[in-house]
Amino acid sequence: MYPFPGLFILFVIPSICKGQHETTCNVVPKDQYIEVGSDTEIVCQTSCVHGKIFWTLNNRRIDESLSNTINSSHTVLTLRNFTHHSATLQCHSAATKQVLGGTTIKTYSKPSNISCIFHYDNLKMNGIPPLFTCNWDHQIDSSLDINYTVLYASVGDSQTQSEICNSKVTTCTVKNTSPAILFGDNATVTVRAKTAAWEVNSKPEYEFNTNHILKMSPPVLTVTTFSDHLWVQCNRFLSSENCHCQVKYSKAVKESTPEWVLNKTLESYQKGFNVTIEKVESCTNYKFAARCALVQAPWSEWSHEKTVLTKLNKRHVKLRLWRQVAEPEKNGVRKVHAMWTEIPSACQGTFTYTIKQTPYKEHVTGVNYTDSLCGNSTCDVDVNQDAHRINLTVFDNEALLVEDSVYVPAIGESLPQVTDIQTSTLKGRILVSWKAPVQPVSGYMIDYTHNGNQYQWKESKYTNATLVDLLDMKPYNITVTPLFDDKTGHGTQALQICSRVGDPGNVTIIDVQAIDQSARVTWTVKSQEACSGVVVNYTVFYGTQKGPQLNVSVDSTKQDILLKDLNPDTQYSVYVNATALTGTTKSSERFFETKTFDPRLMTALIVCGCITIFLVLSVGLCCAIQWKKFKEKPVPNPGLSTLALWPSTSHQKVNSRTQPFQPFSNPSESLCDMVYTEEAQRTPTPPLATGCNGNPASEQTEEYIDPAIVPAPDSQNEDPAELVETHHPSSPGESTALLSSTNTPLSPYRSQSSVESPAPRTSKQCKRVPVKQQEKTPPVTVYVTLDMFEQGQGR
Ligand SMILES: *[C@@H]1O[C@H](CO)[C@@H](O)[C@H](O)[C@H]1NC(C)=O
Ligand SMILES: *[C@@H]1O[C@H](CO)[C@@H](O)[C@H](O)[C@H]1NC(C)=O
Ligand SMILES: *[C@@H]1O[C@H](CO)[C@@H](O)[C@H](O)[C@H]1NC(C)=O
Ligand SMILES: *[C@@H]1O[C@H](CO)[C@@H](O)[C@H](O)[C@H]1NC(C)=O
Ligand SMILES: *[C@@H]1O[C@H](CO)[C@@H](O)[C@H](O)[C@H]1NC(C)=O
Ligand SMILES: *[C@@H]1O[C@H](CO)[C@@H](O)[C@H](O)[C@H]1NC(C)=O
Ligand SMILES: *[C@@H]1O[C@H](CO)[C@@H](O)[C@H](O)[C@H]1NC(C)=O
Ligand SMILES: *[C@@H]1O[C@H](CO)[C@@H](O)[C@H](O)[C@H]1NC(C)=O
Ligand SMILES: *[C@@H]1O[C@H](CO)[C@@H](O)[C@H](O)[C@H]1NC(C)=O
Ligand SMILES: *[C@@H]1O[C@H](CO)[C@@H](O)[C@H](O)[C@H]1NC(C)=O
Repeated sequence: MYPFPGLFILFVIPSICKGQHETTCNVVPKDQYIEVGSDTEIVCQTSCVHGKIFWTLNNRRIDESLSNTINSSHTVLTLRNFTHHSATLQCHSAATKQVLGGTTIKTYSKPSNISCIFHYDNLKMNGIPPLFTCNWDHQIDSSLDINYTVLYASVGDSQTQSEICNSKVTTCTVKNTSPAILFGDNATVTVRAKTAAWEVNSKPEYEFNTNHILKMSPPVLTVTTFSDHLWVQCNRFLSSENCHCQVKYSKAVKESTPEWVLNKTLESYQKGFNVTIEKVESCTNYKFAARCALVQAPWSEWSHEKTVLTKLNKRHVKLRLWRQVAEPEKNGVRKVHAMWTEIPSACQGTFTYTIKQTPYKEHVTGVNYTDSLCGNSTCDVDVNQDAHRINLTVFDNEALLVEDSVYVPAIGESLPQVTDIQTSTLKGRILVSWKAPVQPVSGYMIDYTHNGNQYQWKESKYTNATLVDLLDMKPYNITVTPLFDDKTGHGTQALQICSRVGDPGNVTIIDVQAIDQSARVTWTVKSQEACSGVVVNYTVFYGTQKGPQLNVSVDSTKQDILLKDLNPDTQYSVYVNATALTGTTKSSERFFETKTFDPRLMTALIVCGCITIFLVLSVGLCCAIQWKKFKEKPVPNPGLSTLALWPSTSHQKVNSRTQPFQPFSNPSESLCDMVYTEEAQRTPTPPLATGCNGNPASEQTEEYIDPAIVPAPDSQNEDPAELVETHHPSSPGESTALLSSTNTPLSPYRSQSSVESPAPRTSKQCKRVPVKQQEKTPPVTVYVTLDMFEQGQGR
């Protein structure tokens, strides 16, 4: 651009200085753009100061040797191979450190790494490529508005560069390239970058042979499948030049898979090529693509990917026919379970499988065996005790595809057999090993099943095998059979082994019986799986919502536990962990609530209460009966009662046994004793007795001579007749007076007395008793209350 920056500076400085005052200080030129790596000179005008100056670049002091003081007012700084992207340059006074002036220097670079191609917009095209695209590199400040121009020139005529393309980015495509471009010739391309501040051309010139930058259209690919190979045909465009082509193919699967590439070179007269591919798997999808390139030219794009499904190759069919022979039934017939590997379902075709069992020895005849039409991978056939051969025939659309056969030994046939089978599990696999039989064998077949229907089987050359693809936690039956010649030996079955022993079965709490301070928890373990772990112990976890969680363990023999020291009337949660060596199973949580009281105590209380109620009722009934009895008796007329001394309680007790009405003798004893009859007091009545000549009650009379009861000592000596006289006309009022005068703390009901006609006994004894007329009086019941007496007293 400016090949001599120094000239530019020399030109600029005078023009600036002319209008300036002598004492002006400044740095020129301002805001300079230079090409990266070029040299530049900057002038500091120092008229305003005296003495030395120094420079800083991005605030770092510059070596003074780069600065050259021309005279008192001009100092020139020379910068060589300047590579800063952007820099600030300042001129300072050495004496005052004052900035005298400053400027910025920015760099720009040339476009580089130009590459251009001729190509086709349509993937299938011949003839002159309609498109010419160039790319290049250019590091610029993205804020700049930049215009690129692509200049094309044929070699030998490089003076006449023609602008063929304009762009604002680092790529440019020309459509419908000029027919003047001669393919096969050399040409040059230059890229010019232009901004408002600078303009630069790419260097060195990009020279190329037009054929070398010609990108062909991708070839046309056809793939045909045959039962044992693939036929690939590839046709190219631009058939006038030599070229080379590639065909790549791989399995059409998601995971990464090996990719194969076939190279082929075509002469100018060849329009295409064919290739046969044999090493492909049967019934598998493969994807194919091809591309071509002129010599030294870039590759064309890959052709559209083609996916083809390969056909079933007979040689790939591996039936792996095997059989499992069951124990013979009573009639010697044995069930033989034949099994083989089905032809993959991806294979197109209708495949039928037939199994035929034929006696092994030629001379065995007379048994009619018919073909059995079987399933796609198994077949059950019956054979007798003799040796047999099981033949499997596979037809593809009724055309024989492949055959296989396997030997079934006769019962008791002397054949090799393996011994001492050892099994173990490792990470979901079963490792099997055994001892070889003494006879030489070519290998072993190991078959294994978890349900007796689905078998897996594998061959081993060694006396061991690793069984894979097992179902988790299933018991496996494993049989090892030696193989030799075209026969098999007898199979030996290993002890059943679990692919993995799991957790114990499901633990269920079946019952919780809680009382106030304890609870009995009962649980069961149900293991659906044959391979559940054996429980070693149980741990019962329990606790309240707030409180700590407690646990207690029992061994595997127990399935219940009594939780003690619980709080009454509290909710608890409980669950049970069954621990086996292989894992732990947890039951679901169960909640229970303890009772407020011990229900046994409650029961005792209820029983006691019942007994008490029963007793009370009994007593009540007794009273009722007594009352009824009493009611039936005539109540004595208190008006007819006689006055007598009340016997003392203690005396009465003594006396009671001899008295005929014991219940009335002790008033305080029972509620039933509320009523007293005349009879009780009548006995000691002396007048009646005295009235009689033969005194039958003399003994009783004596007993009543009690000092405590006798009102006065004098009266004791008195004639009893006098007492009788005083008593005889007794009226309610009189008797009340007497009772009140005695002051004995007796029940007020004691005053109650019944007016009864004189006892028949008395009347018989005393025929002259004046109360005889009373006998005629009908029995009248009269109740006398205390009130009555009180009223009487008041009168
Ligand atoms: C100093 O040198 C510059 C350039 O050489 C010139 O233009 C200028 O007149 C000179 N100044 C003096 C005072 O000599
Ligand atoms: C770039 O080109 C456009 C037109 O093509 C023009 O208007 C613009 O000024 C140019 N910019 C520069 C920096 O040359
Ligand atoms: C064309 O360019 C190649 C290098 O790309 C060079 O070797 C060849 O000599 C050139 N041919 C002509 C005719 O200039
Ligand atoms: C095919 O050519 C490529 C390069 O063009 C090369 O890397 C590859 O090895 C070749 N393949 C064969 C099978 O020759
Ligand atoms: C076998 O069966 C077929 C038809 O099922 C019959 O024709 C043939 O005679 C039988 N052979 C013997 C030996 O029973
Ligand atoms: C055998 O396979 C065919 C197709 O592959 C299928 O239609 C058929 O149901 C299968 N038969 C059995 C018994 O599985
Ligand atoms: C496994 O073998 C045992 C012992 O021979 C037998 O009882 C059981 O039925 C067999 N189980 C299966 C699934 O074949
Ligand atoms: C069998 O045992 C041999 C060594 O005795 C060992 O190298 C081989 O890996 C084992 N094979 C399997 C399938 O375990
Ligand atoms: C329960 O059995 C396991 C496994 O053997 C053992 O680790 C644990 O200590 C036992 N717990 C009790 C309480 O015995
Ligand atoms: C059982 O309780 C004891 C304390 O009684 C505690 O140390 C132990 O960690 C608990 N066990 C479990 C499995 O929580």
